[in-house]
Amino acid sequence: MSSSTRFIGTRASRSIVAVRFNHVTKVYRLFRNDRQRFLSTFAPRVKYDEVYANNDLSFTIRRGESVAFLGHNGAGKSTALKIITGVTTPTSGTVEVHGRVSALLDLSSGFDPQLTGKENLILRGRLWGLTDTEIKNLLPEVIEFAEIGKYMGQPMRTYSNGMKARLGFAFASSLRPDILILDEVLAVGDREFSRKSLARMQEIMAQDGVTLLFVTHALASAEKFCKRALVINHGALAFDGPVAKGVSFYKKITQ
Ligand SMILES: Nc1ncnc2c1ncn2[C@@H]1O[C@H](COP(=O)(O)OP(=O)(O)OP(=O)(O)O)[C@@H](O)[C@H]1O
Ligand SMILES: [Mg+2]
Repeated sequence: MSSSTRFIGTRASRSIVAVRFNHVTKVYRLFRNDRQRFLSTFAPRVKYDEVYANNDLSFTIRRGESVAFLGHNGAGKSTALKIITGVTTPTSGTVEVHGRVSALLDLSSGFDPQLTGKENLILRGRLWGLTDTEIKNLLPEVIEFAEIGKYMGQPMRTYSNGMKARLGFAFASSLRPDILILDEVLAVGDREFSRKSLARMQEIMAQDGVTLLFVTHALASAEKFCKRALVINHGALAFDGPVAKGVSFYKKITQ
């Protein structure tokens, strides 16, 4: 088995393809306990179960497309997105990613709970490759959008889930990425924040060439923001086509 993830991460990249999965499989090993997991590094005979989180996934997403990833809990949606962002690597198959990816994979993704919201934003900005001046210019916009007031100066461990989502979304969506990945993170926001974040997503999608990969169990949001849907079922691609058909397909398989 071979594995490789190829990132072609420049803004100048004007490839028609944003993301391509070529027979991607991700196998997780489940050990009986942590001791067994540890032993397995020395003793190849330690027993374990295998979970095929992604099973021979192949698809191509073109620049500017908005794609909903649908599927039951544990279907393999987050695993696919984690492979795109490089958080994890495929067991076999190849992945191409063209362009700068900004992802909100979970509420704590990339945030240090001991640092304040503002310190985290500065750190994340540097990791994204922004200069100090660019960060300084970006911060007011992010802070205004997040609307978490004086908590900006408090350690993030003191934040509610909604506050983490607000800051994470405000940051990820302010970066003007080529590829924006949102994994079921808007669900924890209140009504006012949902309204605001959906408007921001519409704004982003109106920009030419931005690609959106959107995981949600809210099928109405999927239909609103995405033209295409991929339905993942037990790690494998079960449907790829127009979002309305994808939603009916998904409803059928979950009945
Ligand atoms: N680090 C891990 N170690 C072992 N198994 C894992 C790991 N991460 C994910 N899995 C397993 O891989 C499968 C796919 O998980 P994944 O998180 O991709 O599902 P999902 O479609 O995002 O589900 P959800 O809708 O609940 O978010 C599940 O069976 C899950 O338990
Ligand atoms: Mg998930």
